[in-house]
Amino acid sequence: MNFEQLVRYTLEYGNQLRYYHWQTSSYAQHEALGEFYNGLSTKIDGLVESWQGRNGNIKVDQGSVELVDYSDVDAVIESAENLRDAYEQFKEKISHGDIQNQIDEVVELINHTIYLLKLK
Ligand SMILES: [Fe+2]
Repeated sequence: MNFEQLVRYTLEYGNQLRYYHWQTSSYAQHEALGEFYNGLSTKIDGLVESWQGRNGNIKVDQGSVELVDYSDVDAVIESAENLRDAYEQFKEKISHGDIQNQIDEVVELINHTIYLLKLK
C-alpha cells in the first residue's frame, strides 16, 4: 500500500467507524469508537500535512473500501487490527523518523482502542 492508498483507507475506515459507533448497543463500545474516530481524524490530518511538507501534495487514490453493518465486537477488533497491519507495513517502507513517529501514534491509538473494546 502506498501513502495515498493508506490515506484513503484511513478516511474510509473513519466512515466505517462512524457506523460501528452508531450501531453498537454497548455504551462502552459507543464511547470507545467515538474516541477512536476523533483521534484518527486528528492524527491522519497531522500525518498528511507533515507528509506534504516533505513530499508535496498527495493525489486522491481511486480505490474504495466496502462499508459493513456492525455485527459483533470481534469484527470491529479485526477491522482495527487490519488497519494497524497496514500502518505497520507502510512504516517499514519509509525512513524519516518524524513520519514513523506519527505512524506509531496511530498504532498506539489503535492498540488502546482494541484494549478498550476487549473489556467486558
Ligand atoms: Fe457520536
